[in-house]
This record gives sequence, C-alpha cells and structure tokens, in this order.
Amino acid sequence: MKRVVFPIMLLASASLLSADTNKEIKQEAKSAIMKMGGALKSHMKQNMKAGGPAQAADFCLEEASGIAKKVNAGYPKGVSVKRVSLKYRNPADKPTADEAKILAQIQSDVNAHKAVPKMIVKEVSKNSYKVYKPIFINKGVCLTCHGDAQTRDQQAYKFIKEKYPNDKAVGYKKGDFRGAFVVTIVK
Ligand code: HEC
Repeated sequence: MKRVVFPIMLLASASLLSADTNKEIKQEAKSAIMKMGGALKSHMKQNMKAGGPAQAADFCLEEASGIAKKVNAGYPKGVSVKRVSLKYRNPADKPTADEAKILAQIQSDVNAHKAVPKMIVKEVSKNSYKVYKPIFINKGVCLTCHGDAQTRDQQAYKFIKEKYPNDKAVGYKKGDFRGAFVVTIVK
C-alpha cells in the first residue's frame, strides 16, 4: 500500500508547487504590466486630448521608450517588461525567436477562433520565466495609428512613417491580435 501511495503523493505535491509558482509569477507579471500599461496609456491620453492624434503620435516617437525605461527602472530586481509584435513598428519590439513562436501560436489560435489565455507563463530556464500577455486592437482609436490607409490619421501617420520607415504595424482592424507584453522574471 505504502509503495503505491508514496509516489502519488510526491507527484501531487510537485504539481501543487508548480501551480503555486505559476500563480505567483502571473501575479508579479500582472502588477508589472499594469504599471507599464498605465504609464503609456495615461501619457497617450493626455496628448490625444491636448493635440489630437498627430501630437499623440509625436509623443509616442519621443517619449514612449523613455517612459518604458523609467518604469522598468522602478521594478523589483530581476523584473522587466517590453512589448513585442510580429508586425512591429519600433525595431526594438522585434520578438526573439522563442517569443516569435509564442506570438505565432497565439495568432493561429485567434485565426481558428480559439480562446486565448489572458497570460501564458513559460519557464525559460531554472528560476527564469517569460510571461506573455496578448494585446489586441481593442479600441477604435488604435486604428488612428495602426489602421489601413482609410482609417489612419494622415497627419499622425506622416510623423510615424518618417520615424519608422520600415513600419509593419499597420493594416489592423478592430479585434485583431496586435502583439504582447512580455514580462521577464528572473528569481
Ligand atoms: C497616436 C498614435 C498611436 C495610437 C493611437 C496607438 N498607437 Fe500603438 N504605437 C504607436 C507608435 C508610434 C508606436 C511605436 C512606439 C515606440 O517606439 O515604442 C506604437 C507601438 C505599439 C506597440 C508595440 C509594438 C510595436 O509595433 O512596436 C503595440 C503593442 C501597440 N502600439 C498597440 C497599440 C494599441 C493596442 C493601441 C490602441 C489601444 C495603440 N497602439 C494606439 C502609435 C500609436
């Protein structure tokens, strides 16, 4: 009897531990993303209000990476957040090979109308994780700068194209999968 029960208990406690770790990592990632997303959003909103899409686009070009740097500097040690996309605008947001694989998987799930998890945790190596939070074109306003020639704001896109001549982040429609926040957590 004991010989049977013992391994089962071991198994149960091992999977329990990993569920705990999973939960803890997701929690850390969530709070990190909220800080980054919130900072980017509030600056974008202020600029949209003050000067419309053109000013907001101008802001994105000048300040977005500065804000990201500042927010990253405020995280606990071992935590960092970036955005990645298969159709990236900023070349700094080009995914690495492992990230591109996850993004492609999400895109194919979206295409197949499968439910996409809110967050995906990947163990990169021992005590090192990457957490993916998918980003969608969830608001009409995104199209101002990421839509097609009809939906884009001409003035705003002029600024954008000058700064990012190889921009891939256009042609989106509402509801499209856009990319992901990637939180790297090294314990
Ligand atoms: C006013 C123009 C503007 C609007 C509106 C806008 N974006 Fe962007 N977006 C940009 C610019 C410019 C960049 C590149 C920023 C940088 O250099 O970090 C960008 C970058 C991104 C990135 C990072 C990946 C990449 O391609 O470099 C994501 C993800 C993104 N936008 C999603 C969205 C979503 C979702 C919305 C709507 C909620 C939105 N954007 C609305 C201009 C805009």
